[in-house]
Amino acid sequence: MTDIAKLQSELTAAIEDADTLDALEAVRIAALGKQGSVSALLKTMGAMSPDERQVQGPIINGLRETIAAALAEKKAALETAALNARLNTERLDMTLPAPETPRGTVHPVSQVMDELAEIFADMGFAVAEGPEIEDQWHNFTALNMPETHPARAMHDTFYMTAADGEEPRVLRTHTSPVQIRTMTSQEPPIRIIAPGRVYRSDSDATHTPMFHQIEGLVIDKGIHLGHLKWTLETFLKAFFERDDVVLRLRPSYFPFTEPSVEVDVGYTMVNGKRVIGGNDGWMEVLGSGMVHRKVIEACGLDPDIWQGFAFGTGVDRLAMLKYGMDDLRAFFDGDNRWLKHYGFNALDVPTLSGGVGA
Ligand code: PHE
Repeated sequence: MTDIAKLQSELTAAIEDADTLDALEAVRIAALGKQGSVSALLKTMGAMSPDERQVQGPIINGLRETIAAALAEKKAALETAALNARLNTERLDMTLPAPETPRGTVHPVSQVMDELAEIFADMGFAVAEGPEIEDQWHNFTALNMPETHPARAMHDTFYMTAADGEEPRVLRTHTSPVQIRTMTSQEPPIRIIAPGRVYRSDSDATHTPMFHQIEGLVIDKGIHLGHLKWTLETFLKAFFERDDVVLRLRPSYFPFTEPSVEVDVGYTMVNGKRVIGGNDGWMEVLGSGMVHRKVIEACGLDPDIWQGFAFGTGVDRLAMLKYGMDDLRAFFDGDNRWLKHYGFNALDVPTLSGGVGA
């Protein structure tokens, strides 16, 4: 074996044996460093005769290339091994608690609507919907408010701009048009509630131009005022989560119900605040009555066969009474502090068994 071949096998073995990056670097310096064995061979070429260089040159350069390649290969292998060793030993503890992040809340209006849907679902009521931009027939006419009817002016109505020759549509002033939409699209018996936004041109501490109502409608055979009273009593007791809720029914007037009944609930003063229950005083909570014959007729049903009752109430007002807010306008300000204080946890889904108040 020539000296060069011997050197190559020695270096190759040393590279093979190096088991750390430091050991490998030492081999590299010993071979290819300034004082290295391969470098020393390269230097001898300068003193060679051209013929000699022609023979020895490729051999010596070949040695250098082989060794450099072996060093690079081993270095890559050692680096991969070092990385794998680190990956195997270093760990991120994913069980540490995550930092507190800002969280949203469920708005009291949404919460109360969910509570109402839960209470009425238990009594067999489905949820119905109608458009917020409504035509005047559904919002007024079919509800026994013909064009000249003074009640039409009672609602401070927002009118839309109409196309030429068309009757302007309105932002619905109550959820009662959903009664009409349900009776004209569904066969009785009917049991629905219809929660949603309504609009009136009105604004102070207890009125906002947009607010929320919930409508109730029952159409069946032989329905009478007793059914209405029982339903409202059951609903209000479940909603306020008290058995001592007392109702007072007062004769009233709505064009679409006959007779019409306004319902008050009794309250007691506790630490200067009104609390539902008892009867120290009365607060009006909803409008209701037996559906007017003319309304049943307008929907294409025979009022001698089908009767029913309807009621409507303000969702925001119910929320204020139950959860103790006193300014309606704050409901729609989007103030994060208010939402944090009065909002509900998204996981507190109202259920009758758990208490709808969550
Ligand atoms: N729509 C009436 C209102 O907005 C409430 C109501 C609904 C009254 C159904 C009677 C029956 O004031």
